[in-house]
Amino acid sequence: MRIGILTGGGDVPPLNAAIRAICRRAFQYGWEVYGILDGYRGLIEGRLIQLTPEAVAEILNVGGTMLHSSRTNPQKVENGVQRCVETAEKHGLDAVVAIGGDDTLGAAYVLSQVGLPAVGIPKTIDNDVAETEYCLGFDTAINVVVDALDRLRTTAASHHRVIVCEVMGRGAGWLAIVGGMAGGADYIFCPEVPDKLDSVVEHIRKQREQGKKFAIVVVSEGAQIEGIGEEVEEIGTDAYGNPLLRERGIGQRLADAIEEATGFTTRHVVLGYIQRGGSPTAFDRALAIRFGVAAVDLIKEGQIGYMVALKGREIVPVKLDKIAGVTQQVLQEFIGAAKAMY
Ligand code: F6P
Repeated sequence: MRIGILTGGGDVPPLNAAIRAICRRAFQYGWEVYGILDGYRGLIEGRLIQLTPEAVAEILNVGGTMLHSSRTNPQKVENGVQRCVETAEKHGLDAVVAIGGDDTLGAAYVLSQVGLPAVGIPKTIDNDVAETEYCLGFDTAINVVVDALDRLRTTAASHHRVIVCEVMGRGAGWLAIVGGMAGGADYIFCPEVPDKLDSVVEHIRKQREQGKKFAIVVVSEGAQIEGIGEEVEEIGTDAYGNPLLRERGIGQRLADAIEEATGFTTRHVVLGYIQRGGSPTAFDRALAIRFGVAAVDLIKEGQIGYMVALKGREIVPVKLDKIAGVTQQVLQEFIGAAKAMY
């Protein structure tokens, strides 16, 4: 057997841990493993490297992806899907393990429909892939958010300031809600709950009256907030049609509006790519290993067209068609618990 691995979309810290796990399980079975470079771009262009035990020996704790990544969408490239299938055939790949978010996994589903046997592993700091409780990278990212909020709290308190912290997450507020509640945020804006500037302004004023002279506000890059001005008119999109939310500058606009409305000195910080970098947490490493082993075992059993998922304590297979094109937003229970804290 010979399998390929690709990593697509935004990187996450435990990608290398997953690559290592896939390789080690496959080597146990006596298989060959090829790394496809730069996500689907490498599959389209036929750029692959053979992975050896030595190549993956020391990557468990190294963030990023040794295979590199891209947001190339095979369906947006001329004959892209066909070229992916041809590359797989030319290199004798019996299956491809696609590690990615909903875009990458959706493309894997398309490829599996036209004859390229694919198995998926969910990864994205946004944690918005359906049918799995955790995506690789989310745990590390929320720990980064919490660390940042802890640091912002001491400087905000010292200066009696409001600090707005913008986090990633696209159309899902997992990073904002889970990171925000674990980091003790005084108010959280997430895409799932359209909100108003007035609500946070009133809340901050009330806190001041009660003697709390600083506030930490977390805002998701995709939040909808009435009263903070119009969005930039022309916001670009990536190859999968996702809006480039960093261009909205919502953190800055919210901070400016809070300062104007309250008169309290307000600063903002955009956490940005810091949330995707660095070494993976223990939870992410272990999940990457479990996902990697399970993905190879699915291939061994001939179960193609599935994604491995975490449900409760168990890793289970889920059909790729169940998750393609679906965004898993934050459950109301999470939002309710976060809001009960302020
Ligand atoms: O990986 C998902 C994500 O982190 C989103 O939260 C964010 O909107 C996007 O990536 C940024 O992507 P890029 O790396 O293309 O700027």
